[in-house]
Amino acid sequence: MKILILNGPNLNLLGEREPSIYGNTSFETYLDQLKKRFNEVEITFQQSNHEGVLIDFLQKAEKEVDAIVLNAAAYTHTSIAIADAVSAIKTPVIEVHISNVYEREDYRKQSYIAPVAKGVIAGFGLQSYALAIQNFVNDNT
Ligand code: DQA
Repeated sequence: MKILILNGPNLNLLGEREPSIYGNTSFETYLDQLKKRFNEVEITFQQSNHEGVLIDFLQKAEKEVDAIVLNAAAYTHTSIAIADAVSAIKTPVIEVHISNVYEREDYRKQSYIAPVAKGVIAGFGLQSYALAIQNFVNDNT
């Protein structure tokens, strides 16, 4: 099984950015752990700070992977274009967030992606990604 993890804006700064909210671990370090834990899964990873580039990755992924774990970061709360891209592709997408967006500012409670995603996992730190991958693995076995 092939899974793409796609991270949006500012998530390249994980480990340095607001560690009280997002932790001290870089995504690259966590990705190594994920690959070891799910060694039966071919995990690829992309990150972009640009909305259109994220849409290009989603469209391309439809032909290349079986499932997508998407943390669109702040674009979750603003981007109809990314939501449309998720709707447009047949590949299932789970929306993830590191922080519990429901205990933060009101504007983070709105997600354009959630209604077109398979589901949403938020608030479990980096473990949110592992929970999403586990769901895809469960469905695949
Ligand atoms: C985030 C939550 C978003 O509200 C925020 O803009 C992010 C990260 C998270 O993973 O908790 O950049 O998606």
